[in-house]
Amino acid sequence: MNHPAMQGLNLNTPPYVKHAKLIAWVADMVALCKPDNVYWCDGSDAEYQRLCQQLVDAGTFKKLNEAKRPNSFLACSDPTDVARVEDRTYICSAKKEDAGPTNNWMAPAEMRNTLQPLFDGCMKGRTMYVVPFSMGPLGSPIAHIGIELSDSPYVAVNMKIMTRMGKAVFDVLGLDGEFVPCVHTVGAPLAEGQKDVKWPCNKTKYIVHYPETREIWSYGSGYGGNALLGKKCFALRIASNMGRAASQDGSGNPGWLAEHMLILGVTSPEGKKYHVAAAFPSACGKTNFSMLVPPAGFEGWKVTTIGDDIAWIKPGADGRLYAINPEAGYFGVAPGTNMLTNPNCLRSLDKNVIFTNVGLTDDGDVWWEGMEQDAPGKALPAHLIDWQGKDWTPQIARETGAKAAHPNSRFTVAAINNPALDPAWNDPAGVPIDAFIFGGRRSTTVPLITDGRNWVEGVYMAATMGSETTAAITGQVGVVRRDPFAMIAFAGYNMSDYFQHWLNVGKQLEASGAKLPKIFTANWFRKGEDGKFVWPGYGENMRVLKWMIDRIEGKGQGVEHITGVSPRYEDMNWTGLDFSAEQFQTVTSIDKAAWQKELELHAELFKQLEHHLPKELEETKAAIERRLAA
Ligand code: GTP
Ligand code: SPV
Ligand code: MN
Repeated sequence: MNHPAMQGLNLNTPPYVKHAKLIAWVADMVALCKPDNVYWCDGSDAEYQRLCQQLVDAGTFKKLNEAKRPNSFLACSDPTDVARVEDRTYICSAKKEDAGPTNNWMAPAEMRNTLQPLFDGCMKGRTMYVVPFSMGPLGSPIAHIGIELSDSPYVAVNMKIMTRMGKAVFDVLGLDGEFVPCVHTVGAPLAEGQKDVKWPCNKTKYIVHYPETREIWSYGSGYGGNALLGKKCFALRIASNMGRAASQDGSGNPGWLAEHMLILGVTSPEGKKYHVAAAFPSACGKTNFSMLVPPAGFEGWKVTTIGDDIAWIKPGADGRLYAINPEAGYFGVAPGTNMLTNPNCLRSLDKNVIFTNVGLTDDGDVWWEGMEQDAPGKALPAHLIDWQGKDWTPQIARETGAKAAHPNSRFTVAAINNPALDPAWNDPAGVPIDAFIFGGRRSTTVPLITDGRNWVEGVYMAATMGSETTAAITGQVGVVRRDPFAMIAFAGYNMSDYFQHWLNVGKQLEASGAKLPKIFTANWFRKGEDGKFVWPGYGENMRVLKWMIDRIEGKGQGVEHITGVSPRYEDMNWTGLDFSAEQFQTVTSIDKAAWQKELELHAELFKQLEHHLPKELEETKAAIERRLAA
């Protein structure tokens, strides 16, 4: 390519790339970002190993003990770059109202003007990696392709695990196939001879989406969802726009849904299989639930993982909703993961893992808070190097509160490492959904489990869900905020229009005579007066899942209350667990005063979302208020 601004830099376009528009775009971006070199990822294992070695040589990666954790690495980020930056994330639709009041917005032209000088020369001294990836099985009719240009080799190797990444993408793209252009820079150009740091980033950050032109521009962060652009930026923010747009093409098809949901299969001892998709906010238990190991009392039950974070859900010809996981790996929360809470997850981490921001033990392995709970009385490590490179001992931890691992430290691992992987995880047809679960992290008010009366009430409960914030985002932890559908940070368009889209999908499927999935609301996080979680959670969540299956089968009993139906103590299987009726009361009671306050928060949300707020939701709120007053 001879781009006038390229000053002779070779694009290094491989001969198998024949997509003129793609090549022209890369040339434009090279001219803008001015990298020293351009490298097209082929996605091979040899390339992965080479890039990992390069990251080791640069000091970004530490290779872990080969005997303990084969082919695995630890990266520790800059302490200012540890989580998604929601306050720096923008939906730049042409009209402000299309981004809606829950998204940051700037007019596209203004944002382009803001970003232009930042991206100008942003990759100087670095290599631009061209990362071709498919969200969903390569070549499948439901998959979508992205090309991420990034100056971070850490991003390239993570994308290899998280997506179907590599040269086969270009076969699918052909001469003129569609792709979502994603540009990412850590925003740390190197001057001639300047030595690089281990984790380059910039204190200025922008995570920008242009929904109309379906572009993603990310500046200044190398971490997680800020930088692995296939995940939240593409598979949620851009894809939610795609799914809704598909319902507006005039053909009358209902479009599809891009959701912050795990997908699991659960098989009964009789061999009957159900599929559940569940939306919990960031760091609220999706990975855990998707890998659940049924406890004592549930012999013969089996749970298998289709996905742990994102679901694309489409109506099938039979009127049912089918879900696929567009990702190929897990970028999961490390702290709290152990052989008791999530054995399948821990086994997934035996080999071929990238860890980010966990502790490094003296024998070259990893450690994080919660690992000591594996076995009763298991000791803490006597010494390790914490995620910030400092000495850590149990005494230092006691005295200073220092954490070995950052609370949002994560692992990146391929789905095929998961011993509980569902055989259909890669099936382009997806799996038929029997139930949705929406669950927040609430120490009070919201009961363990509620079956919504119907689709509209289920949508209402999802829309008004609150949750305590976690370390997955920068900012304050533990404050209750509304997190509609666990999508507050991920709906790429107006939240009220998003509610309407859900209602429309339900209406259209119902009109076709199909049986709609049930919609449940869960809360594993009620606390007692001692401030501790009352519900044991994790594998024990199977007890709740079983009650939901009973409800699907039309035989689960329960008691009707203001927001739906919840089980009584005697409606659950308690075999193998010592959990009293009194404890059960603590996690299921409905406190009328608390719910009155809760409804005030719903009202606040609806006020904020009043533009295009579906009237069915207002009506549902009124009905709940009547029940509450009765
Ligand atoms: P993202 O990847 O951020 O979207 O998070 P996620 O929803 O997949 O969260 P994950 O399953 O990784 O869990 C986050 C934290 O919640 C971990 O520290 C878990 O140990 C904890 N957790 C998960 N399930 C439960 C549960 O049932 N009860 C309690 N008390 N904690 C849980
Ligand atoms: C989340 O925050 O919901 C995540 C992690 O799944 S990240 O990929 O960083 O968004
Ligand atoms: Mn997530």
